[in-house]
Amino acid sequence: MTPATIGVVGAGQMGAGIAHVAALAGKRVVLVDVTLDLAEKGLKTIEKNLARQVDKGKVGAGDRDAALARVTGTADLGRLADAGLVVEAILESEAVKKDLFARLDALAPPATILATNTSSISITRLAAGTKRPDRFIGMHFMNPVPVMALVEVIRGIATSDETTDTVLALAREMGKTALTCRDFPGFISNRILLPMLNEAFFAVHEGVATPEAVDGIMRLGMNHPMGPLTLADFIGLDTCLAILRVLHRGLGDDKYRPCPLLVQMVDAGWHGRKTGRGFYRYDGPGGEKLP
Ligand code: CAA
Repeated sequence: MTPATIGVVGAGQMGAGIAHVAALAGKRVVLVDVTLDLAEKGLKTIEKNLARQVDKGKVGAGDRDAALARVTGTADLGRLADAGLVVEAILESEAVKKDLFARLDALAPPATILATNTSSISITRLAAGTKRPDRFIGMHFMNPVPVMALVEVIRGIATSDETTDTVLALAREMGKTALTCRDFPGFISNRILLPMLNEAFFAVHEGVATPEAVDGIMRLGMNHPMGPLTLADFIGLDTCLAILRVLHRGLGDDKYRPCPLLVQMVDAGWHGRKTGRGFYRYDGPGGEKLP
C-alpha cells in the first residue's frame, strides 16, 4: 500500500514537478517551502505545466482541476505530520539537507518514509543522520518531471526491502518507470551523464568546436533531444559542478576532474538558464535561448 498523502519539501522546478505527478496520481500533496510566497510560486508552476498538458490533450480539464485541488502550499513543516512519505527537493547542500531531515525525523510518525531527490549526495550519509535509516531512500526524478519517464531509486546501505517496494509502487502510480541502484557516487544517471557533459565543456574550453557545433553534433548525430551544453544549462552549471566534485572526490579518479571553464563560469554566476546565462544566453523576451 502506498501512502495517501505525500509531502514535498522544496517548491522549485523539481519539487513542483514531483508534487504535480503525485497529485495527478490521486495523492494529497503538501508542498512546503521556506516562505509561503515560494510555496505559492511552486503551485503556479504546477498550474502552468498542467495547463500545457491539457492543451496537448494529455490531461483532461477535470483531472487538472482535481489534481490542483489536492495540492496545498505552505511554509509550515508541521503540516507534513500526516504524510506517509516525504520527498525532499531542496538545494544540493549536504549540511542543509541533514538539518532538514533531522527536523523531519523529529516531526514525522515512525512509519513515514523519508526520501531525497538528491542528484548525487550519499543516501547512506543522509540516512545516518536520522533514526530511521531503514525508512530512508533516494527517489531521483529527472527534469522536467512531468515529461521524463524515469525515477532512479537509490537504496542506502540500510534501506529496507519494504521501503523500496513502497517507493517502487508509488513511482509506478505516478506513471514512472523506476529502476534501482546502490548508493555510490553519482548513482547511475549522473555517473554516466556528467562525464559526457564534462567532455563537452573540455571540447569548448580547448577550442575544438563552438557550443553550437558541439550541441548540433550530439543532437543530429546521436539523436539526443538536447545537445550536452544546452542540457547542462538546463540542469544548472552549478549543479553540474557540484555533481562532478562528488564524483571526483567520491571515486578518487581524475577522469572526473571538473573542466576549468565550468568552474570559471560558475564563479562568474553563469549558472545556465536559471540565471539567464550559461553556454548560451536566455535573455530573450520569454526567457528563451538566444543564438
Ligand atoms: N511540464 C509538462 N510538460 C512539459 C514540460 C513541463 N515542465 N516541459 C515540456 N513538456 C512537454 C511539452 O508540452 C511537449 O509535449 P508533447 O510531446 O505532447 O508535445 C513535450 O514535453 C516536449 O516539449 P517541447 O515540445 O516544448 O520541447 P522539446 O521537444 O524540445 O522537449 C524536453 C523538451 C522534453 C525537455 C526535451 O528537450 C528533452 O527530453 N530534453 C532532455 C531532458 C533531460 O535529459 N533531462 C534529464 C536531465 S538530468 C536530470 O534531471 C537529473 C540530474 O540529476 C542532473
